[in-house]
Amino acid sequence: MLSHLLHLHGIDSVVIEKRSRDYVEKRVRAGVLEQGTVDLLCESGVGDRLRAEGLVHHGIELLFDGRAHRIPMSDLAGGRAITIYGQQKVVHDLTEARLAAGGRLYLEAGEVAANGLDSGAPRIRFTHQEQQTELTCDFIAGCDGFHGVCRDAIPSGVRTVFEREYPFAWLGILAEVPPSTEELIYAHHDRGFALHSLRSPEISRLYLQVDPDDDIVNWPDERIWAELHTRLARRDGWSLKEGPIIEKGISPMRSFVCEPMQFGRMFLAGDAAHIVPPTGAKGLNLAMHDVRVLADALAEWYRSGSETLLTGYSATCLRRVWRVQQFSWWMTSMLHRFPASGAFDERLQRSQLEYVCSSTAAATTLAENYVGLTRA
Ligand code: PHB
Repeated sequence: MLSHLLHLHGIDSVVIEKRSRDYVEKRVRAGVLEQGTVDLLCESGVGDRLRAEGLVHHGIELLFDGRAHRIPMSDLAGGRAITIYGQQKVVHDLTEARLAAGGRLYLEAGEVAANGLDSGAPRIRFTHQEQQTELTCDFIAGCDGFHGVCRDAIPSGVRTVFEREYPFAWLGILAEVPPSTEELIYAHHDRGFALHSLRSPEISRLYLQVDPDDDIVNWPDERIWAELHTRLARRDGWSLKEGPIIEKGISPMRSFVCEPMQFGRMFLAGDAAHIVPPTGAKGLNLAMHDVRVLADALAEWYRSGSETLLTGYSATCLRRVWRVQQFSWWMTSMLHRFPASGAFDERLQRSQLEYVCSSTAAATTLAENYVGLTRA
């Protein structure tokens, strides 16, 4: 996305990616786009398939005590909505756009190292098709994910890390069955959280809270469906449809922020700088916000030589990062079962759920954060 936005500003860039195109376009990841993300994709000219295939949702359901409560997000958030559209599709659309515009992508690159970050000409070295290459750049954008090399290239005395781990993980499945629901269902249950999401009218995406040390081999398909039936059960006659599971895996959950998001001429964006638990569906959207801010700041530098926006990049992004951290932590805390919590905490959690489902003010807080706050 950054490379695409820079291109629209007439700025040349090179993308260095560890994985193959096939891998990044097939790997199942996020699927909920905020209104601002949809607008950015559409306004920058890569929204055709998104507009045709994306599923616009105006509400979500919270389920507890066997009863579902609808949060009418769009009514509460000025008409804004979310769109269901798989992250791999976004990656595909952007890759096509970059290639069509003659963009340079080095796929399956290895041994990446960033050097000279606090000089005027940082360098990036990597191997590609068995050849070692070194590029001298004006800037490096560290968009290389939580396990990438860029964050660690910031001297440890310069960066501060803020982190929280959760005593659970999510087991996610993709199933070949039409979704049993029109809108996403977030379920709080004594046995743990469950989520019914979707990818298309034919494909359902479902999640279960599991132990963080659990292994997917302990979860044959029948056990997954049985647990989903239990946690998503409700009193109004609704039922969950089953279908062949075509993909399953367990992902850990954490909250993580690295400050600042810049060192010299290197700027971190997305998971390289921050991780949120998936409950708020925010990871991809936050990364999109980062690169929009970065593209504008770089464009100003190339246009006028002014460093004002670049200097403010980290602080501008971190304002939204911490808002989203708080929201994601709050959704996670409200909906999951905490193994060590006692009866008092459970009563608090129940009270919070009832409040969100009965107070317009509380529901609005959820709605405006969920669809994405307008540019802060
Ligand atoms: C998903 O569809 O993958 C999904 C939806 C909502 C979430 C997290 C993941 O909060």
